[in-house]
Amino acid sequence: MAQRNARWRYLAGALTTLAVALLAGCGPAENFKQSSLDPQSDFTRMIHSLFQVEYYLALVVFILVEGALVYVVLRFRGKPEDPEPEQVHGNTMIEVIWTAIPALILAALAVPTVKSIFRTYEVPQGDVLQVDVIGHQWWWEFRYPQHGLVTANELHVPTGRTVSLRMITQDVLHSFWLPKLAAKRDVFQQRTTTLWFTAEKEGLYPGQCTEFCGIQHGRMAFQVMADSPQGFEQYLATLKATAPAPAAAPAAVDSAKPTAAAGTTTATLGATTVVADTLAGAQLWMTKGCLGCHSLDATKPMGVGPNLAGIGTRKYIAAGWLENTDANLAKWIQHPQEVKHGVIMPDLGLTDAEAQTLAAYLRQH
Ligand code: CUA
Repeated sequence: MAQRNARWRYLAGALTTLAVALLAGCGPAENFKQSSLDPQSDFTRMIHSLFQVEYYLALVVFILVEGALVYVVLRFRGKPEDPEPEQVHGNTMIEVIWTAIPALILAALAVPTVKSIFRTYEVPQGDVLQVDVIGHQWWWEFRYPQHGLVTANELHVPTGRTVSLRMITQDVLHSFWLPKLAAKRDVFQQRTTTLWFTAEKEGLYPGQCTEFCGIQHGRMAFQVMADSPQGFEQYLATLKATAPAPAAAPAAVDSAKPTAAAGTTTATLGATTVVADTLAGAQLWMTKGCLGCHSLDATKPMGVGPNLAGIGTRKYIAAGWLENTDANLAKWIQHPQEVKHGVIMPDLGLTDAEAQTLAAYLRQH
C-alpha cells in the first residue's frame, strides 16, 4: 500500500512539473514579437481563421475519441478472477464508419485550405505598394521600384494599402518570414517568389530569415514599420532627400546636408563642434573604405553592403541584432567581426575615437 501511494505521489509530482513547464511557455500571443497567432493583416487573418477552424475541430475529435477511450478503459477493465473475454476479429461496419468520418472531415477541410493556399499566391493588382526584397548574407535589401528608392533591414509600409513583395536572393537561399503580417516564403536566386499583405495598425513588426544560410543565419532579422499613410509619405520624402542636390560638388557625399557640405561655421560653439565632427566623420567615411560598399543615398542601390540612408533613425542595426544606440553603432563599425563573425564587412582597424566620430556622422543620416 505504502509503495502504491509513493508511486501515485511520484506520478502526480511528475505531471505537475510537466504542466508548469508547459504553461510557462503560454501567454497572450500579442506578447510575443514573432507569433503567427496574433494576426495583424488581411493575409494573416485569413490563415489564422483557417487555423482556428482546424484547431477547434481537432479539439472536438480529441475530446470525443479520448473520452470514449477513457470510458471504455474504466468501465470494462478486467479483474484477476474474470474469465477470458470473447475474441473479436474485425467488424466491417465499425471500420467503414471510422474510415469514412475522418475522410469526410479531411475532404471538407481541404476546400478552404486549398482556396487559401491559392489566395496567398495571388499577385495583387491596382493601387499596391510594390516592394522588391533581396536576401543577402546576412541582411535584407528593400527597394521601392515605384519611387526609385532603396533601404535595408527596416521596411516602412503604409497601413491600409496592400504591399506586394517580389523576392529573390543575391547569394544563397534565404526564407522571408513576417509572422504577424504575412507568411513564410523561401527566396531563390533564379526564381521570384511573391507575398502580399495589408497592415491594419501602425507599429513595428519583426521578421526573420528562416532558412539556414550560413554562420549568421540566426542574426538575419528585419523589421517592418507600418506607418500611417501620411507618415509613410513623409518617410519616402526623407529617403528622397538623401540624394545629393543636382548642383552639388561631386566630392560632397552628403551635400543634401548643407552644414556638412559647405562646412559652414555657425555662431555658437556647440554647433561649430557638431560641424567639425561631421566633417571629420565625412572624411573618415570617404577614406576608410565605407564608401566602397555602402551608400548614404537612398536613390543609389549598391548591393554590396546595406544602403545606410536613414540609418540614424532606424531602430536596430546589424540586421536586427543590436539596438541602434551610439555605443552599439560605434562598436559595430569598429569590430564587425566580433559583433557578427563572418560578415563581409572587415575590421578596418579604427580607433575608438574614429569609430565614435563615424557613428556620430551616421547618426545624422
Ligand atoms: Cu538568411 Cu538564414
